[in-house]
Amino acid sequence: MSRDFSVKSKIHEYAVNFVGDIGVCLETELQEGDQVIIDRNVHELHWKRLSQNLAGRDLIVLDASEEKKSYRGIEPVIDKLIGRGFRKDHRLVAIGGGITQDIVTFIASSIYRGVDWIFFPTSLLAQGDSCIGGKASINFGTYKNLLGNFFPPKKIFIDLKFLETLPNREIISGLGEMTHFFFVSGEEAFELVRDQGCKVLQDRSVVAELIECSLRIKQATVEVDEFDQNVRQLFNYGHSFGHAIESITKFAVPHGIAVSYGMDIANYISVKMGLIDVELRNRLRAILERYWNEVPLGPIDVDAFVAALRKDKKNVGKEVKVILTRGLGKMFKTTLDVDGEARGWIDSYFQDEVYGGKLDAAG
Ligand SMILES: NC(=O)c1ccc[n+]([C@@H]2O[C@H](COP(=O)([O-])OP(=O)(O)OC[C@H]3O[C@@H](n4cnc5c(N)ncnc54)[C@H](O)[C@@H]3O)[C@@H](O)[C@H]2O)c1
Ligand SMILES: [Zn+2]
Repeated sequence: MSRDFSVKSKIHEYAVNFVGDIGVCLETELQEGDQVIIDRNVHELHWKRLSQNLAGRDLIVLDASEEKKSYRGIEPVIDKLIGRGFRKDHRLVAIGGGITQDIVTFIASSIYRGVDWIFFPTSLLAQGDSCIGGKASINFGTYKNLLGNFFPPKKIFIDLKFLETLPNREIISGLGEMTHFFFVSGEEAFELVRDQGCKVLQDRSVVAELIECSLRIKQATVEVDEFDQNVRQLFNYGHSFGHAIESITKFAVPHGIAVSYGMDIANYISVKMGLIDVELRNRLRAILERYWNEVPLGPIDVDAFVAALRKDKKNVGKEVKVILTRGLGKMFKTTLDVDGEARGWIDSYFQDEVYGGKLDAAG
């Protein structure tokens, strides 16, 4: 049964195709004038199967780093495009993970006020989350994802073979990221990740179902709130706290793993506020803990964490906006006073919880 579907965006409808042979796909898709922008690791590891269609083309090979995904970092890419005579009726073709995607989306949306682009996501995070939704964000100075807009590709091709070379920590980061959709969705998706998620490291073939489920959850929300004004904001669950962890560890913790810690913090605070009981928090934590062996969290400077939380771009004024939960599928947006009681909870989370195990039944 085909897993293909399309996303009805206000900008344009775009298709998501699961493909078996990227060679055939590139053969039919690539047009004259297309500029291919490819992640360096993917270029090296998959050249054998890409070379048939890409050899002889002047590629732009990117080092995927948060530093390169920045206002300054993208300058050389734009320079190269202009130097090669890239025109408004040419297209960009991105092959890589979320960083390559963000760089290409940002450039595609702004160069000549917009050019078409197509995307071959190669990381689990990009295949199971970021490839749809149209968001582009690049960093500015120390501010993560500060500059951006919405500009979806024309087509997305998901080739699961890319995942065969993806390091375990990136597979886990992808699972961590997809898990926030499953928890926001509700019990059924929770059970899917509980039962299938742990198998992915041993058997990557089970991942297709998780990717499809994750994308379908995201698609349903993106189609009603593409521009993040309302319900889509619930997908920030785990993200405000996760971004703060990424920021203070200087991105040593991959995004999806940071988000998995972020969800646990949100759940912990939800217990403290009497919104969920500790049993539910522990059920969710049992899933999240599976991701933590790969990248254990070192000691966290809570002052720096709170300062990073305040800097989150979603905040307005002094308030810190976060997503908390009243249960699976019952996330909601609220404001946290990090100068008040919440500060103590954050302290105790890092002191007792990350290193010390679960909350006991008394909470
Ligand atoms: N635009 C969005 O909607 C959106 C959503 C979520 C996350 N993001 C952004 O995406 C980024 C994280 O994405 P990511 O985890 O894909 O990061 P990434 O692009 O850096 O990829 C992770 C690592 O895996 C390597 N890699 C990619 N594909 C590979 C493959 N097939 N085989 C071997 N190595 C491979 C990359 O070279 C990199 O070292 C963050 O910057 C985050 O902010 C964007
Ligand atoms: Zn994310």
